[in-house]
Amino acid sequence: LMENQIRHHLVLIPPPFHGHLTPMLQLASILHSKGFSITIAHTYFNSPNPSNYPNFNFLPYFDGLSNTQITSKNFIDITSTLNTKCVSPLKETLVHYIAKLANEKHEKIACIIYDGLLHFIDSVAKELKIPSIVFRTTSATNFLTYHACAQLQSKGYLPLQDSKSCDLVPELDLLRFKDLPIFNLPNPDDFLQNSAKTLSITPFGVIFNTVDSLEDSSLNQLQQLYKVNIFPIGPLHMIADDSNNSQSILRENHNCISWLNNKARKSVLYVSLGSIASWEEKELTEVACGLANSKQNFLWVIRPETVKDVSAWLQSLSEDVKVGIAERGCVVKWAPQGEVLAHEAVGGFWSHCGWNSTLESLCEGVPIICQPSFGDQRVNTRLLSHVWKVGLEWCNVILRDEIERVVRRLMVNQEGEEMRQRASELKHEIRLAVNGSSCDALDGLVKCILSVNV
Ligand code: UDX
Repeated sequence: LMENQIRHHLVLIPPPFHGHLTPMLQLASILHSKGFSITIAHTYFNSPNPSNYPNFNFLPYFDGLSNTQITSKNFIDITSTLNTKCVSPLKETLVHYIAKLANEKHEKIACIIYDGLLHFIDSVAKELKIPSIVFRTTSATNFLTYHACAQLQSKGYLPLQDSKSCDLVPELDLLRFKDLPIFNLPNPDDFLQNSAKTLSITPFGVIFNTVDSLEDSSLNQLQQLYKVNIFPIGPLHMIADDSNNSQSILRENHNCISWLNNKARKSVLYVSLGSIASWEEKELTEVACGLANSKQNFLWVIRPETVKDVSAWLQSLSEDVKVGIAERGCVVKWAPQGEVLAHEAVGGFWSHCGWNSTLESLCEGVPIICQPSFGDQRVNTRLLSHVWKVGLEWCNVILRDEIERVVRRLMVNQEGEEMRQRASELKHEIRLAVNGSSCDALDGLVKCILSVNV
């Protein structure tokens, strides 16, 4: 695109969380393929591995996180520390970097693209007089709920009453009060304060990892509210040439692919709660029994921090459950999820409905049992079950009988078969967008960045 011209340099700044780093790195590789030079500015905590990304520059900045915070894995606390303590460290790091780029490469930073969680970067970019664009790694609908929560607060609806939990939220298509991220939160005020800061969008616009046709009504609503460019560019993992794009926190277990190779078409349920959510040990036993009793094949991700010693725990299960797992199950610490969902043996996904998992599943036509736990996950569940009709919203009661029932609903019953059919239609629709609406939005983004840098 820009051969023989000066290369414009982009600095992308993700927060150190797996579900956010992955899409930011995918966006980076897409923009690199459009001719931009790329630098990833990152914290020391959970830093990406530069050797996986030979085309990018990496720029660490002081993150101010204590060891206690790092081990606590309290993501809200970590985000808030980054937002308060990193203003000067990031600014100083960038000032040096700007000078270095100018001297060594005759390049300048055309734009900073930062994750919406790190709202402090807005002021850093302004001080340095560099245009900036926000990247939101969750759905457009989820972003609208932040807006709605602020409105509800100003209209005196908060705290939300349990009796109203199933009522529809005024001005939000199809979402109920209980789907809002604020519902049942112990500290709604903290949430509101934080989300208020992320609500302001930079004048140059906002990028979403989404597909226009999946969220057209929310995207239109956002366009009415914010008169800025909105770029729905997704699913990023499909657009990015991600052959060398593995941003895994844990080593992926590839034996599970050989295990899948020996299973019948659409016969396996893939079970995983992403990189943060997990079951308590007591629930884990219920899940094991429910899965075994369902008599379906299952590939189950149990991350190491979920239970101290997985093998010892598996040994402690009752004999019939052990036999069930041995005959029909495969348990791993971390799976190559993209490959798993694309495998023809996989016919269903039991998920926490993080946005990345949601998009990855939709792209492969795999319907979902939804077990949301926090943040945007209830919103995604509502979209999956009520709007796109490819997800089962169940009671989320982690008891073996409930689990056995819901697994059979998805994997055996007609209801599940119909959802699989819908999911496969949606898969084609989404894949069309990669060379359609998302491709157009990407071109729009490139033009926008170049036009503010003439
Ligand atoms: C977090 C939030 O929890 C989520 O709600 C938000 O939308 C994004 O940030 P996370 O919980 O990790 O993310 O979930 P998700 O967005 O689904 O991302 C998980 C990623 O890990 C996916 O890209 C998935 O492919 C990958 N994964 C998960 C693996 O590669 N292997 C596994 O075994 C499990």
